[in-house]
Amino acid sequence: MLEGKKVVLAYSGGLDTSVCVKWLEQQGATPYALYLDLGQGEPAGDVKAKALRIGAADALVRDARTEFVEEYVAPAIKANALYGGKYPLFTALGRPLIAKKLVEAAREVGATHIAHGSTGKGNDQVRFDVTTASIAPDLTVVAPVRDWNMSRPEEMAYAEEHGIPVPTTKESPYSVDQNLWGRSIEAGPLEDPDHEPTEDVFELTASPEDAPNEPRYVELGFEEGLPTTLDGEEYALVDLIADLNTIAGAHGVGRIDMIEDRLVGIKSREIYEAPAALTIVTAHKELETLTLTKDVLRFKAAVEQRYTELTYEGLWFTPLKSALDAFISETQKTVTGTVRLKLYKGNATVVGRTAPNALYNKDLATYDPNSTFDEAAAAGFIALWGLPARQWASVNGGTEQSPLPSKH
Ligand code: ARG
Repeated sequence: MLEGKKVVLAYSGGLDTSVCVKWLEQQGATPYALYLDLGQGEPAGDVKAKALRIGAADALVRDARTEFVEEYVAPAIKANALYGGKYPLFTALGRPLIAKKLVEAAREVGATHIAHGSTGKGNDQVRFDVTTASIAPDLTVVAPVRDWNMSRPEEMAYAEEHGIPVPTTKESPYSVDQNLWGRSIEAGPLEDPDHEPTEDVFELTASPEDAPNEPRYVELGFEEGLPTTLDGEEYALVDLIADLNTIAGAHGVGRIDMIEDRLVGIKSREIYEAPAALTIVTAHKELETLTLTKDVLRFKAAVEQRYTELTYEGLWFTPLKSALDAFISETQKTVTGTVRLKLYKGNATVVGRTAPNALYNKDLATYDPNSTFDEAAAAGFIALWGLPARQWASVNGGTEQSPLPSKH
């Protein structure tokens, strides 16, 4: 069924996608490998050479870091996007971009099929398949690893049989996915949720115990919801994230250990490292508390929750996601200012914030006798505010235990 078809495969250089190249070739297809640099820190030249060696008709390499950061990470910052309140969604944000680039490459080489190396158990298959369906419904998506249902040892055996270098050495039992916004580590001993991750799991973060004894202060300057300066110096967002990963990571900031609800119904244990992401989102949220009204903050929290779910669940290119983007962007017009954080032994703690449009008014808030707040107005306000509560209690009884008479 793939005989004679051109197929563009999302290629990472890892075992799964390497096996896919060979498998596609064996089906009589012409496999094109597409490697996208999203800041995973691997030399693209090596990955390209490997794809060609295994049998790809061509290996395309694209540096997509700036597009990733500006089109995918930036909206996630504005949305304070943390799935389950913890995971900054870096993999989930990368997948729709990879799918988009696969479609572009398919158009370039005249392919009718695209392929990815996702298994049948994860969220990534959903993200690839649904994104492709949303933007290029004429293309067929192939997922060899899923359709094949090969176990890891079987894949390794297949790789060895076909002379594919096996990258996951037997000493490293982990499955890793990484881009500029974070790094995920799964599998091996981490599948026991009661097992504390050992230090060999981490690459971007120092252990808090080994982090410097002196705190490091960083000042992040935001403009309309996005960080533009670090310690007073102007930065492109892509460089700011890269530098902040190093700075915050050195202080052990950004380690996350969580049980996550996958879209396919499985609970999984995930370890993440996201030093820049956690620092930026912490600072961004803080600046919002200074510059947005109570109503906007409350309503936005509900929007953020839904936005995060849509992103996680592969619905990036959908009308609801676009509409929520429009709402969120509107809220960011006044989110300009600076936030000072203290990085110390695994924590990024906000210690100061300023904004030209700060809604905080010291004259109102101060306990000094010369405060401009009219305390005399408070009593009347409270009388009306509490009126429904008073009315309810007078009708139904005001006991502390149960406001309504019990039925029993
Ligand atoms: N659990 C995260 C997510 O679904 C990370 C997945 C990492 N993907 C991978 N193929 N290792 O977004």
